[in-house]
Amino acid sequence: MILLASNENPLGMPESARRAAAAALQGAGHYPDSNGTALKHALSARLDVPADWLVLGSGSSEILELAAQVCVKPGEHVVYSQYGFVVYGQAAAHAHARSTVVPARDFGHDLDAMRAAIGEDTRLVFVANPNNPTGSFIEAGPLLAFLESVPSQATVLLDEAYGEYLAPAQRYDSIAWVRRFPNLIVARTFSKAYGLAGLRIGYGVAQHALAARLTAQRPRFNVSTPAQAAAVAALADEAFLARSYQLNAAGRMRLEAGLHELRLGSLPSAGNFVMVHVGEGRTVHARLLAAGVDVALLDGYGLPQWLRITVGLPEQNEAVLVALRDQAPAR
Ligand SMILES: Cc1ncc(COP(=O)(O)O)c(C=O)c1O
Repeated sequence: MILLASNENPLGMPESARRAAAAALQGAGHYPDSNGTALKHALSARLDVPADWLVLGSGSSEILELAAQVCVKPGEHVVYSQYGFVVYGQAAAHAHARSTVVPARDFGHDLDAMRAAIGEDTRLVFVANPNNPTGSFIEAGPLLAFLESVPSQATVLLDEAYGEYLAPAQRYDSIAWVRRFPNLIVARTFSKAYGLAGLRIGYGVAQHALAARLTAQRPRFNVSTPAQAAAVAALADEAFLARSYQLNAAGRMRLEAGLHELRLGSLPSAGNFVMVHVGEGRTVHARLLAAGVDVALLDGYGLPQWLRITVGLPEQNEAVLVALRDQAPAR
């Protein structure tokens, strides 16, 4: 089966990280370093923030959950966008929050409407850049203007799970924004471009006071020893990251062109996936599965006519295009 359903890195785990994780297994009879000292040290040097501004999570999903647990009391208000990543709603529900799901504009975040939805009891606002599943991207200018406009009692969680896939012209320095805004958490992950999805490791960056609250809420041994070691190695493996970026940029272009040739509409994507309009999502999904390709259904997002295809290796991208072409007459 060709797995293009979960926005994983088609290169898999970097060899450097595999070796580091295997070596770390030697010590796995002991509990992990609950402080994540080595990884925080590496991240702190890379991002130029104090180590106590960093929170490690079992994937960045845990950072999203922690943000809701720490910032929101039952009945308080959370804001996120329609078609926003599924965990935002779940995290808000786990915190017994009241949520406003702000209608999307052109399948992306409508920041003006999100700002208008923020009220006195709003405690958390989720913003994904780029967003999954739509691939939408917000330029630095409007995003910064939004952060400036958010009142201080509301924390913004800026989810950058796919940030490493942004084109150079799209990139911005969100860590500088963390230095400026005490109510900002930037969440990042090793699951995507770094290829460590199965090890479950991500992190949050926030100013000390907020980071300390997140850290206090976190289960003490939430990140395993092999995951920490693999993340340190992956962070240093710039060649792997560059290769992942290039493979994705070329593969995404090929997928977009191939979908266009098949006359299937797709959305411009800043991530490692493309959302494609296929009509009967469930039917097409089943046919692709029968042809040996697994892509993501988007019914859960209220997008039953769309599928999301993760950018794969070149031969995997061709395989999904062939499978889509061959089922095309029945569409
Ligand atoms: C937008 C977004 N944020 C966060 C995550 C969380 O990933 P993880 O928990 O593996 O770090 C994902 C995973 O698909 C995602 O798409």
